[in-house]
Amino acid sequence: MIELTFTEVIIALAYLAAGILFIVGLKGLTSPRTARKGNRMAAVGMLVAIVATIVFLVAVEELSSTTAWAIIAAGIVVGGAIGAFLALRVQMVDMPQLVAAFNGFGGGASALVASAVVVGTDALLPTEIGVTTALSLAIGAVTLTGSMIAYAKLQGLIGGKPVAIPGGPATNAVIAGLMLIVAVFAVVTNSPAAYWGATALALVLGVTAVLPIGGADMPVVISLLNSFSGLAAAMAGFTIENQALIIGGALVGAAGMILTLDMSVAMNRSIANILFSGFGGTVASDEEIGTKPVKRATAEDAAIALSYAQNVMVVPGYGLAVAQAQHAVKELATALEKRGVNVEYAIHPVAGRMPGHMNVLLAEADVPYDKLLDLDQSNPKFGHTDVVLVIGANDVINPVAHTDENSPIYGMPVLDVEDAATVIVVKRSLSPGFAGIDNPLFYQDGTMMFFSDAKKALEDTVKAVNEL
Ligand code: TAP
Repeated sequence: MIELTFTEVIIALAYLAAGILFIVGLKGLTSPRTARKGNRMAAVGMLVAIVATIVFLVAVEELSSTTAWAIIAAGIVVGGAIGAFLALRVQMVDMPQLVAAFNGFGGGASALVASAVVVGTDALLPTEIGVTTALSLAIGAVTLTGSMIAYAKLQGLIGGKPVAIPGGPATNAVIAGLMLIVAVFAVVTNSPAAYWGATALALVLGVTAVLPIGGADMPVVISLLNSFSGLAAAMAGFTIENQALIIGGALVGAAGMILTLDMSVAMNRSIANILFSGFGGTVASDEEIGTKPVKRATAEDAAIALSYAQNVMVVPGYGLAVAQAQHAVKELATALEKRGVNVEYAIHPVAGRMPGHMNVLLAEADVPYDKLLDLDQSNPKFGHTDVVLVIGANDVINPVAHTDENSPIYGMPVLDVEDAATVIVVKRSLSPGFAGIDNPLFYQDGTMMFFSDAKKALEDTVKAVNEL
């Protein structure tokens, strides 16, 4: 029987408590109503894990020097300050980049933990520790450079178009194969040089695997890399026998993978198609769009149609996020509700650029949760809706998803807004959205195009409603 000291028992219990807080926190994140509480619980879990780790290091006398304490303090102060600064400054539409950066740092941190094990041990590592060390180094390094490329694409530092690499996917397969061989050699021979060789190949693979993916698919790639960062952390946890790291890493790995699969299902595309098809590089030409006549609407037209409707359904999209029009939409809904109009919101699972994008924005503007309908709830309602107000959405309402087998979005479930009596689309031009394709809904009889920035359009419409 293993005998544990009192301190070891306390530390094991603290890690267990941290694990429970992570799980309950994650559960809280599944609904906008409980998301903030969930986030706080997970943060408390992380604090508990950090304190328990420091207590453990003190107990095993690893923290006897002032330098060790100074390094830990510097890590907490510098890391915490950078994290707080970035989180406070980031705009909602730039959130995917922030997540990409955090994933990259997470993967890099796990690789550094594994590197410390390689550097710090002269003796032959037991095979299982060698395996988890190699995995942590490889997955962590791929996540680090892959996330940096994803960040650069989304931030516009490098073009968002797919960048073909010499040899295409075969080159990546060769690099991945070589990395695997060198990693196995490292585990068998305990050679630090081989561990570093596998890490170097993984750093290259992160770059060459993400460069050929279009900027438009980056949110899915980021979710996948998020999952990788969790796996790398779990492997590092096995390497240094830290239960909190194993639990936290496994949760991130599983949650990231489920999210990646959910996103690809909502876009009706396979992960392989996302990773290897170079989607998102094509944009409809001017000849394809904008040549057909559209019915234009002004703020006054919109105000009249909306004010005299019984049921209005708002469909928010990426443009609402760009224009930061969430408060203006709430203001318009309040003005309409005062006139007895029933206003609800149809939320497509991939509207915007990140999961839950629209829910978060509307929650920020205090739109009641029971007014938010998902795809399955809203589609049967459009037939009984007088006016659908589309705000900066495009692909998620594109009927070609049902009709054109050659379209890149064919088969993607969309909001069937054309079933409503009238559709008013607020956007600045006839430019395509994320998928780069024209939208025949804009030219249909029941559709009115209100060309304007979303926030300005909504503010003008509120004014017009109040003047009626
Ligand atoms: P999009 O199809 O990208 O269309 C957004 C529209 O907003 C554009 O056509 C643009 O037209 C308009 N817009 C931009 N700025 C605006 C502003 N300031 N005011 C008014 N309109 C503005 O957006 P969507 O319908 O939300 O669809 C999301 C797309 O992203 C889907 O194809 C989805 O597959 C993809 N995607 C989503 C996710 C997640 S998880 N949400 C992840 C990966 C990919 P103008 O330029 O003419 O104004």
